[in-house]
Amino acid sequence: MSPLKNRIGLVKAILSNPQIMKLSPSINWFFTRYMMKFPVVVAGHHIVLHSHLPPLNSKAYTRFVNEHLLARIDGPSHAQIGLTNACPQNCEYCYNKNRIGRVMDKNTIKKVIQELKEIGVVWLGFTGGEPLLNKDIVEITESASENCAVKLFTTGCTLTKNLASDLKAAGLFSVCVSLDHWVEEKHDRRRRYTGAFKDALKAIDTFMDIGSVHVGVSAVLSRDMIQNDQTEEFLQFLIGSGIHEAWLSEVKPSVEAFWDSNLVITEEDRMKLTKLQDRYNKDGKITVNYLGHFEGKEHFGCNAGCKMVYVDAFGEVSPCVFTPMAFGNVEDKSIRDIFMEMTAFFQPSRENCFINKNYRLLQKYSIGQTMLSKDNSLRMMEEVRFGPLSKFGQLYYR
Ligand SMILES: C[S@@+](CC[C@H](N)C(=O)[O-])C[C@H]1O[C@@H](n2cnc3c(N)ncnc32)[C@H](O)[C@@H]1O
Ligand code: SF4
Repeated sequence: MSPLKNRIGLVKAILSNPQIMKLSPSINWFFTRYMMKFPVVVAGHHIVLHSHLPPLNSKAYTRFVNEHLLARIDGPSHAQIGLTNACPQNCEYCYNKNRIGRVMDKNTIKKVIQELKEIGVVWLGFTGGEPLLNKDIVEITESASENCAVKLFTTGCTLTKNLASDLKAAGLFSVCVSLDHWVEEKHDRRRRYTGAFKDALKAIDTFMDIGSVHVGVSAVLSRDMIQNDQTEEFLQFLIGSGIHEAWLSEVKPSVEAFWDSNLVITEEDRMKLTKLQDRYNKDGKITVNYLGHFEGKEHFGCNAGCKMVYVDAFGEVSPCVFTPMAFGNVEDKSIRDIFMEMTAFFQPSRENCFINKNYRLLQKYSIGQTMLSKDNSLRMMEEVRFGPLSKFGQLYYR
């Protein structure tokens, strides 16, 4: 999109929610400046700033404005849910590695999703394990997509053209196919699965071919890649693939193998990616959506346990996907009750990513089991110290 069309798209989106003008001028100004950092992408009927927000012309976005920005409800705006824990790949860093239990059935998943929407969720990520291995994924998508932006994270394995079309018809808004390197052997090695790269590229092509779904790549960058300036080479490869968005994250220290200060990014590393994002988005050939940009101190900060919640495939509730801490199981209690109890221990829009800051405490309380029990999660929270509010937090919570 040209810069002019980009601005027109943005203005149209803002005008479709004129009630946003009821927010204070300082918050409106913050949002406008934030939005101007991105190229606007049109995928089918979706007008997309980036895929961590619902499409700007969707009912889900209107709910976000009305319920979260204006009514200031306490519930989460964003959630992820595990559709299965089964997965053919075996990534060393996988945040689901040590989660165990009895998987939720289809009806439980659908019920939890309805309750998540009732307490405020407007953006829902399907994760796992490999979510495509849940045979009910189309029905689950259909049940979730009214008034809520549904995004799929996938390796791409087992995807067929029919399944992609069915997911689109069921209302899937965005997909992120995982790709950790642009060199086939390196991606396969990180995923400890021969054929992972081929599966990913095939899935990208399949989604691009059916059209109307926003297509991205989820790339988990090692600290080494960030420090050796390999991200740009990766982005050039992704631009060549024609996808809409590069969803970037550093490896989060969610599992023991990464509880090492040499592997966890520094503020300097984060700023490097943040600046890279702004530069690429200005250029507009691809949307770069780095998690550390959104959750950085200059934007919205970390919202784990406040505006973000994770329900894993076994029904265990955590503050976000990267925090292996159990606060209750949806088979025993409603997600509303578990969330309200959990959120009392968290503070919204704080400067630092919760897990990057607190992985040492995770290590202290894990006691041989990297998934913390509720008791140990509560003990850990007694030692957690939250940092100052992010820029958005300062405007919104003052
Ligand atoms: C858990 S996977 C589930 C979906 C699917 N199996 C896949 O790999 O795409 C969801 C996304 O989280 C990413 N991920 C997993 N563990 C991570 C970690 N410790 N830090 C950052 N991203 C992680 C994966 O690379 C993937 O893009
Ligand atoms: S493919 Fe996804 S779920 Fe499977 S091990 Fe890797 S990150 Fe985890």
